[in-house]
Amino acid sequence: MLKLAVLVSGGGTNLQAIMDAIEDGTITDTEISVVISNNPNAYALERARKNGIDGICISPKAYETREQFNEALLAGIQSYQPDLVVLAGCLVVIPKIMVDAYPNRILNIHPALIPAFCGTGYYGLKVHEAVLARGAKITGATVHFVDDGTDTGPIILQKAVEVHQDDTPEVLQQRVMQEAEWVILPKAIDLIAKGKVQVEGGLVRIQE
Ligand code: GRF
Repeated sequence: MLKLAVLVSGGGTNLQAIMDAIEDGTITDTEISVVISNNPNAYALERARKNGIDGICISPKAYETREQFNEALLAGIQSYQPDLVVLAGCLVVIPKIMVDAYPNRILNIHPALIPAFCGTGYYGLKVHEAVLARGAKITGATVHFVDDGTDTGPIILQKAVEVHQDDTPEVLQQRVMQEAEWVILPKAIDLIAKGKVQVEGGLVRIQE
């Protein structure tokens, strides 16, 4: 059984996609042990609690220094002994102590086709605003392992989505979530649960 700790910050639609996929069997042999939010008002916590899953808030505001928050976040995760940490709409900068504790065992979903429209400052709607401002015709989403950089870890899965001429950032975000994020994040988790994902030389190989 693959045990997950899911980190969230907002609405939790990616968390919902994971819970639904576990429910309908798209994700096999996996359970969510805890959902952790840096934001006490994140609706994602409500989604967890409705599903009988521990939903806890570990907020930077409760700690005097960033280092103390980082240590509390890592301790909170470790207390549930997860096999995999999933960043699902998580806006917290993941500290090095956490990456070191979970090498190639932290997943992130980014709402663009890395290496495009990623890195510092590219998150949430800002990503889709940049895609539209550049006039890109294709965008999508990427699931990758988290390393010490920002959106720089080994890529696991990607899925492309068409940009329509009259798209607003909000409309494009919704299409990317529906057609890409909510598909490839559960799929990546299921592949890992089945032991089909290996990292060799910084690149991901998926066993067919
Ligand atoms: C989505 O755009 C997701 O790609 C990004 O955070 C936003 C909200 O995600 N990572 P969620 O609805 O909280 O899962």
